[in-house]
Amino acid sequence: MTKISSIQDTEILRPVSSGRSTTTAVVGLQWGDEGKGKLVDILAPHHSAVVRFNGGANAGHSLVVHGERMAFHLVPCGVLHPGVRPVLANGVVIDPDKLIEELDILAERGIDTGTLAISDRAQIVMPYHKQEDALRERLLSSDGDTAAIGTTGRGIGPAYAEKAARATAVRAGDLVRPDVLRDRVNKACLMKHSMFDAGGLDALDAGALIDKALAWGERLGAHICDTSALLNAMLGSGNPVLFEGANATLLDVDHGTFPFVTSSNASAMGIPAGAGVAPRHISNVIGVVKAYCTRVGGGPFPSELHDKTGGLIRERGREYGTTTGRPRRCGWLDLVALRYAVVLNGVDRIALTLLDVLSGFDELQVCTAYKLDGKLLDHMPSDADDLSRVEAVYAPMTGFDGDLSGVRSRADLPSEAQRYIAFIEEHAGVPVDFIGVGADREQSILS
Ligand code: IMP
Repeated sequence: MTKISSIQDTEILRPVSSGRSTTTAVVGLQWGDEGKGKLVDILAPHHSAVVRFNGGANAGHSLVVHGERMAFHLVPCGVLHPGVRPVLANGVVIDPDKLIEELDILAERGIDTGTLAISDRAQIVMPYHKQEDALRERLLSSDGDTAAIGTTGRGIGPAYAEKAARATAVRAGDLVRPDVLRDRVNKACLMKHSMFDAGGLDALDAGALIDKALAWGERLGAHICDTSALLNAMLGSGNPVLFEGANATLLDVDHGTFPFVTSSNASAMGIPAGAGVAPRHISNVIGVVKAYCTRVGGGPFPSELHDKTGGLIRERGREYGTTTGRPRRCGWLDLVALRYAVVLNGVDRIALTLLDVLSGFDELQVCTAYKLDGKLLDHMPSDADDLSRVEAVYAPMTGFDGDLSGVRSRADLPSEAQRYIAFIEEHAGVPVDFIGVGADREQSILS
């Protein structure tokens, strides 16, 4: 059982009631990997459910289970807290093999996941979606250009595309409806035949895939239910609900740096549709921001550092992908992108993470504007080509030094670090009221 630490009593962690319901939403404001998991883990004990509403096994968060740090991809962060119901809502795409693997690991360590609720409407990532993902990336990069997205290879895009295509999509509820399942998988295999053939892949074996999916249904069937009804009942009876965003705003399929994005609405706007709750329930949005920027995969990144400083941030911040192990691209904090994400999500407050990683630099740079074709821009262009051509305009700031991991109050931070935070608040227009100064949950400043 997870030890509930002293910081759990802090007022700021309590969910906010809108009068009708009590919720908290945690979303990433950059390109992912902002440290959302740690915040969700701290907030979870104040809620009755932790809900994933988007993405799939492309997300990665580290959980400390009995002192051992482990990477999870699908199981919601709240799973370690007894009495908090983990929910995989309809907007999630589920790779059942990955989910079962994670449930097995937790069971081996004595953690009860019996209350896990899986939406019957959630899409299933079939093995052919992962093959399709790899094939698309191979074809996109075959002529040596940079069109490949650099996906996590988890079949996310093809699974969401199948959902939009409708009749061949397998939903979690279909795993326990053999007739529907057979029909859908047979049709999907038929439709994919020519693509797989042209891509030099082996023909799909529909029978084997159906057997595999039926076995998933036997294993996961008891968890599958109407999670929208479940959540609305919880909200209606005053139970606080925490929404856990995966991936992040700048990877949002509609509002991110398209086409270098993931395939779901990874911002707070994804919550109502992805969880099956009305927009009026989303009232307390915490945007998670790294003290610098990282990105993994392709796409524009105006404040990227290609020099020694970028390498230093990568090593200090251990910036390697949780899901793929890929080195992350690193750069200075981009306040233009941050302002965009704050507005888009209706962010109420910011959680600033990994401030400790910036300790030790004589000078820090913060991107405050872009220059495009000689003109100054104070907003993010909507077109990825334009964004890839902008030049970042920086404000230099004096760096700070020293070990921050033991600091528990904002006033005890070096004055330059306090100025850095105040500068972010001024530009973002919302308060920073959570500051991460180390990996452990205790290494946090709550104001
Ligand atoms: P996909 O979600 O696997 O299709 O990948 C699309 C893009 O989003 C790639 O650039 C990935 O590296 C990126 N991506 C997806 N999920 C995450 C995440 O959780 N953190 C960081 N990058 C992500």
